[in-house]
Amino acid sequence: MKHLLNIETLEASQINEILARAAEMKQTRGPHQERPLAGECWALMFSKSSTRTRLSFEVGIRELGGQPVFLAANDIQLGRGEPIRDTARVMGRMVDGAVIRTYAQGDVEEFAAMSGIRTINALTDEEHPCQILSDLFTIVEKRGSLDGLTVAFIGDGDCNVARSWIWAAAKLGFTLRIAAPSRFQPPADLVARAGGNIHVTTDVLAASNGADVLYTDVWISMGKEDEAAFRTAQFSGYQINQAAVSAAGGSPLVMHCLPAYRGKEITDETFEANAQTIFDQAENRLHTQKAVLTLLEA
Ligand code: CP
Ligand code: NVA
Repeated sequence: MKHLLNIETLEASQINEILARAAEMKQTRGPHQERPLAGECWALMFSKSSTRTRLSFEVGIRELGGQPVFLAANDIQLGRGEPIRDTARVMGRMVDGAVIRTYAQGDVEEFAAMSGIRTINALTDEEHPCQILSDLFTIVEKRGSLDGLTVAFIGDGDCNVARSWIWAAAKLGFTLRIAAPSRFQPPADLVARAGGNIHVTTDVLAASNGADVLYTDVWISMGKEDEAAFRTAQFSGYQINQAAVSAAGGSPLVMHCLPAYRGKEITDETFEANAQTIFDQAENRLHTQKAVLTLLEA
């Protein structure tokens, strides 16, 4: 595998290899004996804000012996209209790999094709593969396996994170339930194309019923700010709260990719009661990013 562009085109065996490597990375954190990125320089080119993804890649690349260079898209000529294919051909001659956060999935794919260097999707409007790989690792770490589990995603069922969950469920065979308002459900043809055991509903409690994992993401993804008022009204009630946790029964893992907006997609009470899981999940971004960085082949 040369690039990580999405979950959609990964094989189950590749996902499992990344999860196993992430566990190794976590166990051996600190100065690694091996420095697989020694002598390499990686560019992080971001068109959207980031705390976790940027930090985990910058720290991860350094821990693996490489050098990160952060490029805010608005500070480089890309932000003034230089085409992605030209940016890619310049960067391909100067750096060894690129981590890209942007809007169009096609831009990351074009960059990968035109630059010739290892390319990682650090979030597009279509997918957030690094997040979901890390979340899968967190679930395996805490529950031992994904086999037979039911994940309930509550919120914007058509966002990048939900779409990556759809592909992960289809590839790995666990059950995914998505509770979202009808205007924000994933396209039926995408769910059908993914296959697998995926159920879409408008009913939060039905989706939560007996679920092993309750998962949510922001109601207003980056780039959707002009829809804020409409989305806030539409998503009212699409929240992880005590009622959802009770419907899950037992002790569901409550997960959030972060950043979290209390009182919107999750209550403060439920967030704080599950902070250990949620911040373990955030930490695992680092270990999973390092796993991906070491598995891509130049
Ligand atoms: N979850 C996530 O990707 O966080 P950032 O936007 O802070 O990178
Ligand atoms: N769906 C969110 C994820 C943030 C990590 C967004 O795109 O803003």
